[in-house]
Amino acid sequence: MVKVLFVCLGNICRSPTAEGTFRKIVIDADMELLIEIDSAGTHAYHIGEPPDQRALETAARRGIDLARIRGRQATADDLRRFDYVVAMDEENRRHLMSLVPADMSRKVRLLMEFSAKYAEREVPDPYWGGNSGFERVLDMIEDAAHGLLEDIRTRHAL
Ligand code: 4NP
Repeated sequence: MVKVLFVCLGNICRSPTAEGTFRKIVIDADMELLIEIDSAGTHAYHIGEPPDQRALETAARRGIDLARIRGRQATADDLRRFDYVVAMDEENRRHLMSLVPADMSRKVRLLMEFSAKYAEREVPDPYWGGNSGFERVLDMIEDAAHGLLEDIRTRHAL
């Protein structure tokens, strides 16, 4: 199995949204037995909590179910175990890279590297803003998640 971990700061807004969005795309492609998907946060603030209500509702309106996801913190072991460790922004990426030796940090990528449509490199943190921030985050994540699946298909000949 190809293992994909999405990472943001709190694991209640962006990375659970990415986990649920990518899972839906993978299921729609009949590839759920080939790709393992999870998410985590760089910080411990929201361990054990469900996603932010605004993230839950924004995803639900697009048929994406985040209800079973619970916050957890990323560990050095995650970087050993997962094939793709996909950070939402540069701060998340730097934090992840600091957990492991430099050779392992190559698998840490930015989600927006896989986007065809957006020039931005980072998914903006929607936590302190309003609902429109969550819509935009989901638009960006949906686009990049399709690109990520294409990258996996190409690299792993799936
Ligand atoms: P996330 O958003 O990293 O997309 O889950 C945040 C959630 C919580 C906090 C910051 C960002 N916080 O400071 O508690």
